[in-house]
Amino acid sequence: MLVHDLFESRANSIRSQIIQDVDSHGPGQYFVRFTDIDKLGYSARQQFGRSPDVDDPEFSADYIGTKHGRPAIWFYPLNYYLKQKDSYATDKPYAWLVKLNDDAWLQPVDRKTTGQTAAPLGRQRVGLLRNTTPPAAIFFRPAFQLIGKYYDYAGQHQRHGQVKGAPDPSFFDRVRGLTESSGYTLEGSWTPDLVFSKLWAIRKLQNIVKDSLIPVIYVLGSWYGNMSVLLARSGLNIGKIINVESNPQWLNTGNKFIEAMGIDNVESMNKDANTLDYRQLPGVVINSSTNDMENRGWFDNIPPGTLVVIQGRNKTGPKAVYSFDSPQDLQSLYQLNKVLYSGSLDLEDPETNYTRNMIIGIR
Ligand SMILES: C[S@@+](CC[C@H](N)C(=O)[O-])C[C@H]1O[C@@H](n2cnc3c(N)ncnc32)[C@H](O)[C@@H]1O
Repeated sequence: MLVHDLFESRANSIRSQIIQDVDSHGPGQYFVRFTDIDKLGYSARQQFGRSPDVDDPEFSADYIGTKHGRPAIWFYPLNYYLKQKDSYATDKPYAWLVKLNDDAWLQPVDRKTTGQTAAPLGRQRVGLLRNTTPPAAIFFRPAFQLIGKYYDYAGQHQRHGQVKGAPDPSFFDRVRGLTESSGYTLEGSWTPDLVFSKLWAIRKLQNIVKDSLIPVIYVLGSWYGNMSVLLARSGLNIGKIINVESNPQWLNTGNKFIEAMGIDNVESMNKDANTLDYRQLPGVVINSSTNDMENRGWFDNIPPGTLVVIQGRNKTGPKAVYSFDSPQDLQSLYQLNKVLYSGSLDLEDPETNYTRNMIIGIR
């Protein structure tokens, strides 16, 4: 057998890869999904875009579609798949494995169910568990941990990228000179909602500081440095911007971009923001990455008297660690001594509508 064939046959065994991954992630409720889309989300382009909840007059436990109900994503319970794998869309090349979050709950429903049931204490109702045949988990929120994504090479005969041929490098690919390995792409960092959110922060900051000199701005979880680019071009009177980012590749890509734009007052620090000592303050600390930043050392270490800008959103993706429904949610986790601005914006990203919240004030 050629090495190539060996690899293909091993890669084809999605079932055994799933079993292995479940073993290493321990007990819990697991679900699988097969699609031809290299993406897991709530967009209308998904095969099952919407499902009515039980209190919807159009509710039907068997409805599968895109016209009625709440944005939903459908999975099959793993146990059922393992027993009856042939009844699934195994012709679809992508298989996804997720695990229900510990604090999440799916309301069991069948064709006779008429009303919503409250979740057990300490858990949140995040969707439906359809007990008809075939059974299905219908998530109205991404209340699951993504355990694995598997690609059926053999079913497609050729590897991904060879089926249609690799796409031409985009403008962004050429700027950065490398291909991203994860979903957090440079393109994805410039979606209109993310640009708008940053301009919103800058505008509100401008209202507070007017044209006074800000000696230093720390931007935490700076990703590709987009906030620093917009700050540098904003007209604010800024001495220096320091991008703090734990992922060196993203920092590096951002630096190329910043350099190409001729911006010369941005420095970068490849560091965990929770370990910062802020020795270059006075100035401002901006964190629009609160959803993705574990722990709160970054906030606790900010010297009292510092001006702080904090953003956080709801309806987050599976990788997020926090979700914030309101500016009050932000303020309860990151307590500012004096709040100078507090507000929220309704926005839309490529997957869903969501609310971004912001507080600005003195630590
Ligand atoms: C995906 S971005 C999202 C940012 C936000 N939506 C925005 O546009 O401003 C979050 C960034 O925070 C970074 N990050 C998360 N935890 C961090 C930490 N402890 N220290 C530094 N960077 C961190 C991640 O590496 C990532 O680049």
